Amino acid sequence: MQIHLHKYKEVLSTNQMAMDWVSKGMAHEGDVIFADFQTAGKGTAYNHWESEPEKNLTLSLVLCPKHIEPGQQFLLTQIVSLALQHVVQAEIPHLPVKIKWPNDIYVENKKIAGVLIQNIIQGNEISFSIVGVGLNVNQRHFSSKAPNPVSIIHYKKEASDRESLFAKLIAELSKLYEQSIYHQQRVEKEYLQSLYRFGQSGRFEATGKSFIATIKGITAYGQLMVTVESGEERVYNFKEIRFVL
Ligand code: BTN
Repeated sequence: MQIHLHKYKEVLSTNQMAMDWVSKGMAHEGDVIFADFQTAGKGTAYNHWESEPEKNLTLSLVLCPKHIEPGQQFLLTQIVSLALQHVVQAEIPHLPVKIKWPNDIYVENKKIAGVLIQNIIQGNEISFSIVGVGLNVNQRHFSSKAPNPVSIIHYKKEASDRESLFAKLIAELSKLYEQSIYHQQRVEKEYLQSLYRFGQSGRFEATGKSFIATIKGITAYGQLMVTVESGEERVYNFKEIRFVL
């Protein structure tokens, strides 16, 4: 994939900008919008992504995943999560870096990166996928309500070079994206192996009730499959179940 980097000092949201480009017919596969600061960065849970100017990575990559049918769009989530997991794990080799379903990157019990994917589906094709990534690198203090944010700097003696991390992330994303064309099952298998709490019992909450369950797998649509203590198997969509940390 040919990467075209577009760097900005300040934007509202790189995802929003990429979506605008799509609607104006200006977006191409491989476009990367990188911002030093977002004034209205979007997150999934809190609809806001906190990131101090020039401290972290906040970017959106435009993909045209012709090889992925709309019904298989979870594959994109798997690719992006794994790329981030690889990059962060290489920076922090002494601690486990995991993917908290569906696409949060966790170091132990703390969130270091988040992903916001927005797909534009036309007919039976994902015509565009806007892959938004926020990776906390050098930010030491967080003020928003997000429960457990952490940065790479919390695990290192000195600040990391954002440009080199950016280059590693784009290389990893491109590699996995291309791999997914011929080796989808390999990507799916590795995603499962990298899942936070996979095969381990832990506390969850759904429909106001707290319970102990074990993650058993992921459905083809990306739903979480768990087995509760009684042996009952359940399937949850995103936002229907919460991990109690
Ligand atoms: C989450 O809440 O976990 C998802 C966070 C995604 C944040 C990134 S930062 C770059 C891109 N632009 C946005 O407005 N959001 C995503």
